[in-house]
Amino acid sequence: QALAPVDARLAGKHVLVTAGPTHEPIDPVRYIANRSSGKQGFAIAGALAALGARVTLVAGPVALPTPSGVTRIDVETAREMAAAVDAALPADAAVMVAAVADWHVEAAAQKLKKGDAAPLLHLSQNPDILAGVAQGARRPQLVVGFAAETERVIEHAVAKRARKNADWIVANDVSGDVMGGEANAVHLVSAAGVESWERASKADVARRLAKRIADAL
Ligand code: CTP
Ligand code: CA
Repeated sequence: QALAPVDARLAGKHVLVTAGPTHEPIDPVRYIANRSSGKQGFAIAGALAALGARVTLVAGPVALPTPSGVTRIDVETAREMAAAVDAALPADAAVMVAAVADWHVEAAAQKLKKGDAAPLLHLSQNPDILAGVAQGARRPQLVVGFAAETERVIEHAVAKRARKNADWIVANDVSGDVMGGEANAVHLVSAAGVESWERASKADVARRLAKRIADAL
């Protein structure tokens, strides 16, 4: 593969990317998680670094190599991801691709035994990392969120963009086979409206988004 030329507009720019799922432990051997391979987020981090940005990638548990030129911070839970993101600020742009678990439980110190009755899990809300960054005092100039939806994709994405104070939401329909796959069909939702991109490999979606981020910075 030919090396893409660096983009002068990204020189000296710091971009923060989150990727992968988070794992919320139930006990030492069990967890709650979202379905996410991390491929799209890692591809975006790699594409931004290839264009010359300084990239910090906060990654949940995934089985992927670190893209070239990227500084990677591994975390397990949403609360750890929130703390790592906070520690990595300030940034010129933040791209939150992680499929963050919405809830956590008070993890048991010892392995729960099956016993007779199934345990009742008491779920507590996790911090919304994207909303925290987009509404915080050290808000990056450009804040991009992702939204995986199974229905009414654009309607949900438009609402999420407003609710979280994001500049862009990259929405994808996950009712098909996107999860863990190599291709993605996304809609870029911004103040300017909705742009629907043709189905492409996750690497191509990443390169296209990285260029758009360079345009915006
Ligand atoms: N996100 C986040 N922290 C969370 C939950 C979500 O940073 N605790 C980010 C994701 O990384 C993504 C965006 O918010 O960029 C949208 O995530 P999504 O799960 O679609 O949004 P939610 O507000 O959690 O809504 P839903 O009820 O559809 O899960
Ligand atoms: Ca969610």
